[in-house]
Amino acid sequence: MNVDRCVCFNVSFARLQKFAAANSADTTVSLEQLQTAFGCGRGCGLCIPYIRKMLRTGQTTFPVGSTTTDQSMP
Ligand code: FES
Repeated sequence: MNVDRCVCFNVSFARLQKFAAANSADTTVSLEQLQTAFGCGRGCGLCIPYIRKMLRTGQTTFPVGSTTTDQSMP
């Protein structure tokens, strides 16, 4: 089973990544900008580490728990 979306707001990481790519010409899209545009991460918050990783890597699907062993997390 993979994690591919913010379940609370039913928004896929692929959709977030597409938005980030389309809006990052001058600067990097932040988690806060995605939260403002889509509401993602403002429910239970479990998707936030995955969204951060998506913004860093462009990856849009993750094995469950894969961010807990990511040593590059801030
Ligand atoms: S899964 Fe994104 S806020 Fe709950």
